[in-house]
Amino acid sequence: MTTIKRIGILTSGGDAPGMNAAIRSVVLAAHHYHIDVVGFYHGFNGLIHVENINQMQSLTISDVNNIIHRGGTILKSARCPEMLTEAGVKLAANTLMVKKIDALIVIGGDGSFNGLLALKEHWQGQLIGIPGTIDNDLDNTDFTIGFATAVNTAIEAIDKIRDTADAFERIFIVELMGRQSGHITFNVGIACGAEQVLSFENFSVDDKQRKLQQLASEIKTAQENRHSSYIIVIAENLWPGGAIALANELKQASEIDCTACVLGHIQRGGSPVPKDRLLATKMGVAAVQAVVEGRNHIMIAEQNNAVCHIALEGAVQHHKAVNQQLVDAQENILALTAQNQY
Ligand code: F6P
Repeated sequence: MTTIKRIGILTSGGDAPGMNAAIRSVVLAAHHYHIDVVGFYHGFNGLIHVENINQMQSLTISDVNNIIHRGGTILKSARCPEMLTEAGVKLAANTLMVKKIDALIVIGGDGSFNGLLALKEHWQGQLIGIPGTIDNDLDNTDFTIGFATAVNTAIEAIDKIRDTADAFERIFIVELMGRQSGHITFNVGIACGAEQVLSFENFSVDDKQRKLQQLASEIKTAQENRHSSYIIVIAENLWPGGAIALANELKQASEIDCTACVLGHIQRGGSPVPKDRLLATKMGVAAVQAVVEGRNHIMIAEQNNAVCHIALEGAVQHHKAVNQQLVDAQENILALTAQNQY
């Protein structure tokens, strides 16, 4: 066991519901081990620009009272291009030394963990990641904090869209977040009974013209047979110009009227669902225990419902693939719909 006096903590990149629950858990677990916790604000910017006011604060138990249910992050978040430069990384490392931090816990996604890996070259302290991103794209963990809430939020929104779409027998194209991966899109699309799920895993932009024709034909068949709503969910950054462009192209090519709806940042906000609160709490405790055990350069993960650690590199080398069973399930449902058996 190493004697640890001070843990630094920050939240970085896109905020995710449950980040506050993770901060709370770290502070409470550290208190148990008589370790002080210092929060840095605005992601890695708080380390690099620590001389500015309000970039750093000791976190006590009372600071984390009543935050488990709050979205966002009390430590604020930001992207930090300076962490892509050696000068920025050195400044961050210098702050950790000057402020006598023994271990740094970062709650974030792959960009944040690349920041941790860069720090490894310039700082000797312990570096621990907690996966916090709605995208769920970090490898070697079954879930990231925030994903379950984002999926839930999007499902609630699309269920409401379905009501009005049904009333007018309208076609909606709903664009979902996820950066370059389809975890949100597939989970939400299937859970909403979307007629089409378009994501990186089942569509390539090279196939755009063929897809446009296929969509037009399937929408027309469905309208003739069913007289009801039709919902296409589409991953952001997939179709050039997004949902709005796809709606325009369907109109131009086939006279099909679609309403585009970009759900956007609504998916990042709101009170975390129980699954995210529990995951964040378990991971926060595990992160502090890992610090006490002297572990370094790891990300806390969850595999088969058990919290574990993996090497930081293992989280960011590849984007985690979407569960193939989900992709296949959607294909099978589509096939049934096309045969008009559904
Ligand atoms: O990584 C989380 C995420 O919400 C992505 O799903 C999305 O592509 C991106 O962040 C949006 O980032 P910003 O809020 O900086 O526009």
